[in-house]
Amino acid sequence: MMRAIRYTDSLDGITPGMLDGFFDGWAKRPSPQMHLRVLQNSQSVILGIDDQSVQVVGFINAISDGVLSAYIPLLEVRGDFRGRGIGTELTRRMLAKLKDFYMIDVLCDPRMQGFYERCGMTPAAGMMIRNPAAVAKL
Ligand SMILES: CC(C)(COP(=O)(O)OP(=O)(O)OC[C@H]1O[C@@H](n2cnc3c(N)ncnc32)[C@H](O)[C@@H]1OP(=O)(O)O)[C@@H](O)C(=O)NCCC(=O)NCCS
Repeated sequence: MMRAIRYTDSLDGITPGMLDGFFDGWAKRPSPQMHLRVLQNSQSVILGIDDQSVQVVGFINAISDGVLSAYIPLLEVRGDFRGRGIGTELTRRMLAKLKDFYMIDVLCDPRMQGFYERCGMTPAAGMMIRNPAAVAKL
C-alpha cells in the first residue's frame, strides 16, 4: 500500500536534512540549506511530507507583492514519489491559498501546460532570464 503524504503550509520543525533530492536536472543544484532559505523567504509554501522517512517529498512556493500579484517559482515532487497526485495536490492547495490575488503566474515548459490547465490555469506567453552563476553565490 502506498504511504500517505501529510500536507502542511508550516515550516515548523523542517530542517535541511529533510530536503534531500530536489532540484533534479539543475546544472548547479541549490543545497538543502539554500532550499530551506528559499522556503523561509517565500510568502507561502506547501510541503508534502512522508512521515515514515521524515522527508519532504514535494514542495511548492509562492512569492508576492502582498496586494495584487503572486508568482509560483518552484514546484517539485521527488522522483520516487511522482505520478501519484502529489504535484496536483500541492498546486491545488497553493492556488486555494492565493485565490484572492488578482494575478497568479507560473512560467513553465509548454509540455507542462496541460498539468496547470487541469489545475484551473490558462496558458500565456512569458519571458525570462536564467543565471546559473547566481546559484553558486548563494
Ligand atoms: C511536475 C511535477 C511536480 C508533477 O508532480 P507529480 O506528483 O508527479 O504530479 P501528479 O502525480 O499530480 O500529476 C502527474 C501529471 O503531471 C503531468 N506531468 C508531470 N511531469 C510532466 C512533464 N515533465 N511533462 C508533461 N507532463 C508532466 C502529467 O500530466 C502527469 O499525468 P499522468 O500521471 O497522467 O502521466 C513533477 O513531475 C516534478 O517535480 N517535475 C520536475 C520539476 C518540474 O518540472 N516542476 C514544474 C515546474 S513548472
